[in-house]
Amino acid sequence: MIYPISNKHIFLIGPRGSGKSSVGSALATGLGMVFLDADTYLQEKHNRSVSDIFKTEGESGFRVLESTAMEEICMMKPKVIATGGGAVLSERNRMLMAKNGLCVWLKTSEDTLLERLWSDRCKGVDRPALISTSEADPKNALRREIHEVMLVREPLYQSTANWIQETDHKPPEIIVQEIIHHLSGLK
Ligand code: S3P
Repeated sequence: MIYPISNKHIFLIGPRGSGKSSVGSALATGLGMVFLDADTYLQEKHNRSVSDIFKTEGESGFRVLESTAMEEICMMKPKVIATGGGAVLSERNRMLMAKNGLCVWLKTSEDTLLERLWSDRCKGVDRPALISTSEADPKNALRREIHEVMLVREPLYQSTANWIQETDHKPPEIIVQEIIHHLSGLK
């Protein structure tokens, strides 16, 4: 195993569109660890989609389920975990991650996030809205959502991260290599 602190999880943190799932699964392969997507775990556990939970229980209801899922995941054997973009909003989640693993923030510019999330939306990917806006143009509404979300979360990603991984203009293989290079230097 390349990663010396093998008794700990690796949590990937960052907003929607920062590449947590694609980088996470490649990173797990590179480290010989198992990959887990926290949203997928939650959806399978409740047999419901994230969008459905947001529709019926609202964001606050989703956050309660998300925190319980995080507690369960933390008790599992060490894995590479793609967390939901908003997992850092909860102090309890931040404490759990600090106690049970290392956090890697996939730092991505708002322009790149917009490009990826807009392209996903054009392909029909359904993501619940995180803010309400009167913006009529859907791409401007998305731009505004990304900006407002990052204003709140950027300091939380920053303070929770053990390692900040820049991702703009880097293919996933390079991002994975850079994270492994960092982890392999840890004692
Ligand atoms: C959310 C991000 C989503 C999902 C939910 C809320 C957020 O996860 O948990 O839609 O608040 O940023 P991904 O970041 O994996 O898309």
